[in-house]
Amino acid sequence: MAKIVGCITTSHVPAIGGAIAKGLQQDPYWKPFFDGFPHVREWLAKVKPDVVVLVYNDHGLNFFLDKMPTFAIGAADSYSNADEGWGIPQTAPFQGDSELSWHLIEHLVKEDFDLTTCQEMAVDHAFTLPMALCWPDQKWPVRVVPVVVNTVQAPLPSAARCYKLGQALARAIESWPGDQRVVVMGTGGLSHQLDGERAGFINKDFDEKFMASMVDDPAWATKYSTAELVELSGTQGVELLNWMVARGTLPEKVRKEHANYHIPISNTATGLMVLEPAG
Ligand code: DHB
Ligand code: FE
Repeated sequence: MAKIVGCITTSHVPAIGGAIAKGLQQDPYWKPFFDGFPHVREWLAKVKPDVVVLVYNDHGLNFFLDKMPTFAIGAADSYSNADEGWGIPQTAPFQGDSELSWHLIEHLVKEDFDLTTCQEMAVDHAFTLPMALCWPDQKWPVRVVPVVVNTVQAPLPSAARCYKLGQALARAIESWPGDQRVVVMGTGGLSHQLDGERAGFINKDFDEKFMASMVDDPAWATKYSTAELVELSGTQGVELLNWMVARGTLPEKVRKEHANYHIPISNTATGLMVLEPAG
């Protein structure tokens, strides 16, 4: 059966794409952020995943406000990026795994998670930039399955529902016949707010508590409503719901392989974690 070898959770700020294009990894502004990633790449070289299931939120490239699924999943054999208007170069296309996608869809629907199935899907910066941080040569050595969570337009799914989706996703992945090694990624957050009176809002205290909970108390954030999570982390900080899905795919006991936290990149407090199942 397929095996989940670990999770990577990371922020996904568009400006990262510009910094990569300009080679600014050693620039004093960018270095504390990019310095988080060599260790992630070493870990990936060690765990050698075949597939990445990447949980993120689309920002208007594939789904616009007129049609907003709460949860969606790709079922294509390839996925491409497109111009999102950020002025950043597009990445190389990604090889999908439609067979695995349909296995996940069948399993999840049986468990009453009725995801919107997308046989064509454009993937935005929340997908492409974390992949480019993990594999800077963009010669993707893995197949991918995108999972999209609505963190954008109210009403959002609860943290509890996202955590449970992760748990169901784990059962779905681990019932996939074969010996594929799977890494689950969750992107977005941590605290940031791009709009309104609180634009620029960052909450380091909350981010630190949330990152600690990812290790020792994975259901911690489920005690908050989505409105409370927006209050605590910002209107875009609530992208941490994608981290909750990813965390749900691991057992309660995990080992923290790596973490990094840096304020700010653009308007965002950036977080990075690598977690492995304990034992
Ligand atoms: C920024 C952060 C995001 O998560 C995003 O999707 C777009 C922009 C930012 O901080 O600039
Ligand atoms: Fe975002």
